[in-house]
Amino acid sequence: LAKTRIVPAKPESGIPAVLLVRQDTLFVLDQRKLPRSVTYVTCTTASEVAAAITSMAVRGAPAIGLCAALGLAVVAKRSAHMSPDAFVRKMERAAGRIAAARPTAADLGAVVRRILDALHEAPPKTRVDAVVATAEAVKTELEAACARISQEGARLLEGRRRLMTYCNTGSLATGVGHGTALGAIIEAARSGKVEKVWVPETRPYLQGSRLTAFELWCAGIRPTVIPDSAAPSVIAAGEVDAIVVGADRIAANGDVANKIGTYGLAVAASLAGIPFYVAAPLSTFDIGCRDAAQIPIEARSGAELVQEVWGKAWGRRISAYYPAFDVTPGEFVTAIVCEEGVLEPPYPGAIRSVLAARQ
Ligand code: MRU
Repeated sequence: LAKTRIVPAKPESGIPAVLLVRQDTLFVLDQRKLPRSVTYVTCTTASEVAAAITSMAVRGAPAIGLCAALGLAVVAKRSAHMSPDAFVRKMERAAGRIAAARPTAADLGAVVRRILDALHEAPPKTRVDAVVATAEAVKTELEAACARISQEGARLLEGRRRLMTYCNTGSLATGVGHGTALGAIIEAARSGKVEKVWVPETRPYLQGSRLTAFELWCAGIRPTVIPDSAAPSVIAAGEVDAIVVGADRIAANGDVANKIGTYGLAVAASLAGIPFYVAAPLSTFDIGCRDAAQIPIEARSGAELVQEVWGKAWGRRISAYYPAFDVTPGEFVTAIVCEEGVLEPPYPGAIRSVLAARQ
């Protein structure tokens, strides 16, 4: 990826913009470098957008969906000179390339399908505008969804003083707005009654200790970072009043795919008798997946695990297995917060109704 440094590294000035469109170029904040430096990768082609997603420069289910939308808008603008048929073929190829960049987050495929539908429905002369307008609509709707999820989530967390989250679900993970689970925590903390936010580091990319801790810090909240392996025992020790996490895909029966390690937190929460909440926009729900067994789990290269720890030379010789997500059965989920409110078990009916009401 081409790398362009366009904003100086000043984390104390706040959280930098995640996705910026300037004319017909998309600038993607390189989250792998945060919070140490604020650097953007430039994307002008579908391959560059897909590479930004696959390589984790941008991550978080809603943010990669939005990145796909804005990336396709950029590709459309740059292809406006083509004949109508060539334009459609080019956009379909671009959509396929970007949708395949990461498999687990439902938002990515959903957004790409929505852009393609808009493209196919528009008359040839307005196709570029239709793609750009749909990408803008995705952004506006996501921003509103995050605001609502943060408020509803904060209401659920009322009276819970010691919270735990996982991975990163703040504005860095949604691309716009306040984020989902982390948005709810930040909103809840406005009451002044939140005493502690436990943040497991989230190996190997450290979305917890680098990104969530940074976002909490920017919001004036002191995080307490712990090793991932410490989280279940901290819960068991009675140090946590509620857990709230995000999701990458929620199946029709309420099973929730999220960052690897989430399942262990849910089991520990259940044993400790504390609520385990999931916060996610409707774009993360996929009723095409009946249950956990149908959710595709991304297997990332084992090298990403061992290089971090051992350095490249060792990493090449050591075999490692890195499933990037796990699935928490719906039975362990106390409630799911979305932009339409709070869903409670039994999830199959609750999810069906909330999605039907949307159509
Ligand atoms: O691999 P990542 O960093 O994309 O994983 C992100 C998560 O698991 C988040 O919890 C999820 O996408 C929700 S983001 C609002």
